[in-house]
This record gives sequence, structure tokens and C-alpha cells, in this order.
Amino acid sequence: MERDYVHGYTGRESTRLVDQATTLADILHHDTVYPAGATVLEAGCGVGAQTVILGANSPGARFVSVDVSDDSLGAARERTERAGLRNVSFQRADIFNLAFLPESFDHVFVCFVLEHLPDPVGALTCLGKVLKPGGTLTVIEGDHGSAYFHPDSPYARKAIQCLVDIQAGMGGDSLIGRRLYPLVSEAGFRDVRVSPRMVYVDSSRPHLVEGFTKNTFTAMVEGVRNEALGLGLIDEDSWEKGIRDLYRTAESDGTFIYTFFKCVAFKGLSANKPLRDRAGF
Ligand SMILES: C[S@@+](CC[C@H](N)C(=O)[O-])C[C@H]1O[C@@H](n2cnc3c(N)ncnc32)[C@H](O)[C@@H]1O
Repeated sequence: MERDYVHGYTGRESTRLVDQATTLADILHHDTVYPAGATVLEAGCGVGAQTVILGANSPGARFVSVDVSDDSLGAARERTERAGLRNVSFQRADIFNLAFLPESFDHVFVCFVLEHLPDPVGALTCLGKVLKPGGTLTVIEGDHGSAYFHPDSPYARKAIQCLVDIQAGMGGDSLIGRRLYPLVSEAGFRDVRVSPRMVYVDSSRPHLVEGFTKNTFTAMVEGVRNEALGLGLIDEDSWEKGIRDLYRTAESDGTFIYTFFKCVAFKGLSANKPLRDRAGF
């Protein structure tokens, strides 16, 4: 599993995940608050970048955060301890082989994981099994096709396309944001609602220039340099120009725009019953 994950598990990637989560906390998480007493499964918690935000925003809820990577779980444990959170526990677990009892969680949360999985509907179905009837599923994903910027650059677009192609070659889909509605519906959830979360960056928003344009998005594209060149997807000169042009959008006259997609859906109690008002929200 570990070698099949496009972004890898390096220290730089851990830093990037934390930059991403911290910078986007308000945009992505302001409306995720779980009621006191609720038990929440966070699937694919990585280094705990979202976990610390979830745990702090819902201090009365209990989180069980799982991942397949022991190293990431170790980093996540340290991060939550440093944050002083006592409402999170960690376990090594594979989404496709969860050992939890059926219907044992009130809510399930999954962020930036489905994009890496060859069978996202299968993963959602597995997550649905451990969710109580009436409970919510929250899924957050990006979509690299939603990136546009000024100054525009064919080299930058080509570098991004390298990441899209490499991830697709590994069975993932970095354009998955646009597919959340059909995927979650196909997995049997009800009352599926998707909200686009646009990130707009210009130099009047310096924390987004650093935290998003440079340290989240461009760092992510830079991370596949060796694969892109090794596979012959792009020549070295074009790659360097592409990365240079992505950083160029972070200068004083540049802009960068990207859209995340957040989906909230419910596990049905029984056929065709409206569930939205039954989950304690
Ligand atoms: C891009 S990281 C996202 C981590 C975290 N959710 C965040 O947003 O910062 C994707 C994570 O999913 C984990 N993952 C991938 N496949 C998994 C599976 N089948 N079961 C559990 N975790 C998985 C990876 O190990 C990795 O830590």
C-alpha cells in the first residue's frame, strides 16, 4: 500500500499535509461540528493534520482515527498529544478490512483519501457498514482540474497534468471532487449534498499565498518530479518552467484558484425516509 500512494510518506509531505489542513481549516471545516457524546471514525487520518482540527472543533465527541501507515499514525499521535487533545484514539486499520462492529460509529469523516483508491465506491460501502443508521458521512476531496491561475502557463498546466496522469496510473483519481455526488450516491448513502469550497488566492491574502499556492498545491505537484521525468511524461526543461510558473502565480500580481468539494450524506434508516433531521444536527 505504502508504495502505491502518489504523495508518499516523506517529511516534506507531512509538512505539506499540515500546511494544507491549517490553511484550509476554516474553508473546509467550519461547518463540521459533532455533538457531544458522538463517536466519529476518521478514515485515512494520515499524520493527523485534519484530526487536530476535528478534535478541537468537537471537544465533546470521541474520534477513532485510522490509517494503514504506522509511521503516519505515530506522527498523528504526537500531533494530537502536542495539541492537548484527549478525545482522539488511533488504530492501524485498512478501510477495506475494518475490524469494528457493524453500525458502531455515529459519524464517519474521510478527507483526501478516496482520490488515492482504485475502488472509492467499495471504500464508501465499507465505511457505511460501520456507520449507524441515520449517521452522517462527510467526504472532502479536491479536483486538480479546478486549478486555474494568472499568469496562465501551458508549462504549469502540463506539470499539473503529470500529477493527474501519475495518480491515475496508480489507480487513483485526482479529479475526483466532481464525482463525489455520483460516488456517494452509488455507495447507497441518502440525502447526498455536495458543496464546492473555492480557494481564491492573491497577494492581499498572504497566508493563502504561502499556505496554499506555494506550500500545498505547488509543493504537491513538485513531489512527483522524479516520476514525471522518469516516465517521460515531460522533459526536464518544461518541468522546471512549469514549477517556476506555478510559483510565479504567488507573486504580487499573481492569482491562484482551486476548488475543493465537501460532501455530507446520511446512512438510511430504511427506504426513502428523510434523515437530515434525525442525526442530531
Ligand atoms: C493524502 S493523505 C490524507 C491524510 C489526511 N486525511 C489529511 O487530510 O491530511 C491519504 C491517507 O490515506 C491513507 N490511506 C490510503 N489508503 C488507505 C486505506 N485503504 N485504509 C486506510 N488508510 C488509507 C494513506 O496512508 C494516507 O495517510
